[in-house]
Amino acid sequence: MFRVDENCNFALLYKGFQPMNQSSLVSISDISREEILSLLEQARYFENHPNHKILDGKVVATLFFEPSTRTRLSFETAVNRLGGRVIGFSDASTTSSTKGETLKDTIKMVSNYVDLIIMRHYLEGAARYATEVTDVPIINAGDGANQHPSQTMLDLYSIYKTQGRLENLDITMVGDLKYGRTVHSLLMAMRYFNPRFKFVACDELKMPVEYKIFCDENGIEYTEYTDFSPEVINSTDILYMTRVQRERFTDIMEYEKVKNLYNLHNSMLDGSRDNLKILHPLPRVNEIALDVDDNPKAYYFQQARNGLYARQALICRALGIDVTKLKESDK
Ligand code: CP
Repeated sequence: MFRVDENCNFALLYKGFQPMNQSSLVSISDISREEILSLLEQARYFENHPNHKILDGKVVATLFFEPSTRTRLSFETAVNRLGGRVIGFSDASTTSSTKGETLKDTIKMVSNYVDLIIMRHYLEGAARYATEVTDVPIINAGDGANQHPSQTMLDLYSIYKTQGRLENLDITMVGDLKYGRTVHSLLMAMRYFNPRFKFVACDELKMPVEYKIFCDENGIEYTEYTDFSPEVINSTDILYMTRVQRERFTDIMEYEKVKNLYNLHNSMLDGSRDNLKILHPLPRVNEIALDVDDNPKAYYFQQARNGLYARQALICRALGIDVTKLKESDK
């Protein structure tokens, strides 16, 4: 449906390149530890003061080449609550991409109209590529199985809010660790905070080797499991469940083989730590049973709500708006 200029792996082409506009957010590795902590403070500020007029006169584009509920709607709510305006699309089949317009041309066109582009694309590296063809800042709202950095900011905010710290936590990631871009981004962000990871996945959906090398290079402890056992659950602070990403499989029979392997039920939480919180980027399919929803340890709906505040902070970062001054002016 959508023709790109270079019919190849963008991630390989653009790995290691700096975005043209330093306000862009393509990978979580674009953000330092200090900046992460500052953005979390800003998210907390927006949670308490969500409505402002600081984007008055600004127009933001949301270009979603892949389906989304939370990411697009929370970004758009964030812009609206900050007094800006939104243009864009949630379905690329209604755009001129169906006539053969390239990603490059689409980005250049939209750049004529807006101050910020928030973009989700099914190709890894597409957001990085977009930063190479425009001066308008780009926020990556998910590129294939690669990265989802704004999700990571809300995950970090959720972890911080529920645990009171980011440091020295036992984090268990379960399910599709191969294609799940949220676990890739979160793993990279946690390098500043001395986590101990458990990776629970079948052989077909194991954490890719490049992320395990990343752990080794950054002194991050991790253990791999295929069993989702009580021992794993009961030694965990953050249980990060993921959906098997059906849309990434080229062979649907492969998907059918692995889609029901890891399911969390309420009774499995009986021996878990008091501070355990269950996160999930959502949407879920069957990996968290409905009987978990009423358990106080289930945090995934609040987690999605935190996305609004984290994304307000990220939009301000991209547009060079100093939230510290905003806080001071409230005094
Ligand atoms: N977590 C997440 O990216 O959800 P959506 O696909 O609904 O945006």
